[in-house]
Amino acid sequence: MRVPIVAGNWKMYKSAQEAADFITALLPKLTPLEGVERVVCPAYIALPAVSTALQGTPIKVGAQNVHWKTEGAFTSDVSAPMLKGLVEYVIVGHSEVRQYHGDTDARVNERAKAALAHGLKPIIAVGETVDTYRAGGTEAYVGAQIRACFEGIPQEALANIVVAYEPIWAIGTGLTPTVEEANTIIKKAIRDVLAELYGADAAQQMRIQYGGSVKPDNMKAFMQQPDIDGALVGGASLKVDDFVTLVTLAQEAKR
Ligand code: 13P
Repeated sequence: MRVPIVAGNWKMYKSAQEAADFITALLPKLTPLEGVERVVCPAYIALPAVSTALQGTPIKVGAQNVHWKTEGAFTSDVSAPMLKGLVEYVIVGHSEVRQYHGDTDARVNERAKAALAHGLKPIIAVGETVDTYRAGGTEAYVGAQIRACFEGIPQEALANIVVAYEPIWAIGTGLTPTVEEANTIIKKAIRDVLAELYGADAAQQMRIQYGGSVKPDNMKAFMQQPDIDGALVGGASLKVDDFVTLVTLAQEAKR
């Protein structure tokens, strides 16, 4: 049985103070919801405040990226050892980082390995462009992303990895694939490819999220799909009540 995981990717929203205030409002509502892993991923600048506020609570913290080296002359970047103690998770391969910072699958693979090497759990994000989707190339494209992003990652590490399938054209647009389409891609391009790489049992245990315009009104349908184990949420994770609703719907659907 895979424990569902709902993560809020706050992107470049909320200062440290705003993040701390948000956690104060969120915590009493989110704490009682058991049976689902809850993660918030603030900007780097807010991580210390959020991490302190969530100490000793069941809510976990994630970073939005991590550098592939331990330290060095990499102006503006943050390494895994620097994040250690502040976060449990780190998103790598988000399409916005791929788009605006030029990350390739090989780079995402390096970032994921760096996270794992320092005891952090990567949430590896993959997903196709609208052109690939329209051309019917999603399955091949996402399958290739998974192979490249998992290159050299040993099977023992899988329990500490989450995959997020986020079609780029669904992010922040209000558009989504049908829940059946999302489930099919997650099954065929992600779980079946992981089964080829690591064996059926290991793939069966991997948690795979859907992301892209997840809202309170479509969450239940996504969560009712058998291969979707949670959600990576942008916009709706910035509102206390919406995020609580999303976590509640994941909990109910996967009970
Ligand atoms: P939205 O939920 O705002 O579409 O963003 C999805 C996303 O990019 C999460 O990482």
